[in-house]
Amino acid sequence: MKERNSSWGNVAKWYDRKVKMKGHFFHENSILPRITELISNLNVETLVDLGSGQGILERTINQNIRYVGLEISPELITQARKMSRSKSPQFVLEDLGKPLRKSYEKFDVAASILALQNIENYEVFFRNASQLVKKGGHLILALNHPYYRIPRSSGWEIFPGNKKQVRWVSSYLKVQKIPIVMTPGERSHSKKQITWSFHVPLSIYITQLTKNGFIVTEMQEVASPKESVGKNAKRENIAREEIPLFMILVAKKVI
Ligand SMILES: C[S@@+](CC[C@H](N)C(=O)[O-])C[C@H]1O[C@@H](n2cnc3c(N)ncnc32)[C@H](O)[C@@H]1O
Repeated sequence: MKERNSSWGNVAKWYDRKVKMKGHFFHENSILPRITELISNLNVETLVDLGSGQGILERTINQNIRYVGLEISPELITQARKMSRSKSPQFVLEDLGKPLRKSYEKFDVAASILALQNIENYEVFFRNASQLVKKGGHLILALNHPYYRIPRSSGWEIFPGNKKQVRWVSSYLKVQKIPIVMTPGERSHSKKQITWSFHVPLSIYITQLTKNGFIVTEMQEVASPKESVGKNAKRENIAREEIPLFMILVAKKVI
């Protein structure tokens, strides 16, 4: 299996096809409408996107906001520049798990859309975020739900006792580094592409925010808007409405 660091450069073409111009299903239906609403309530002039991928957030936000995207994959930066709505898009190569290579202005908002859990060194990520946000500014994190959506350690199941659909979680408090095969159909082992996911419990994220001068001002738990059809639809839909799969945290920089 091919692996480099936590970059998604090895799956850039696949990811770009999945996200396209408007985002994948959960971008469009769960995450981006909430992020745009949060941003519009915060009176934002400048925004830095942490782990900007192929630039979905840049294309989504109000074009009057001055935007900088930081990303480890040159392949995804190339895609982002091609699709940008701006004439002079600012996408910069940075490994957010290491101290920043350049010095940047301080931004009103740093946003990270489904990227923090792909970055191994979360402590450095939070230090970088703190360095990039001005006092009184905000950090917005869109996450896979840290408790309910842990790759390989959570899933749906029918509970034998009452036949309800439940969400099982088998491992939560430990930090985990989890390989995800992005090309499951590929037969040849050597051609399988993986990305890395890093599970970190919520308590560590909150501690990191506090250590780096942030206090949480809002938390949203977001259920999947998908709907089942067929004979198990009722119990599947009930479970899906009740168990959130995403979390959005908003934290204010107070120091
Ligand atoms: C799931 S993708 C999300 C991308 C984008 N925010 C979106 O919503 O489409 C995760 C992104 O994090 C980037 N990434 C992984 N490790 C990184 C690091 N150490 N520094 C910066 N970006 C990183 C990957 O290359 C990938 O673009």
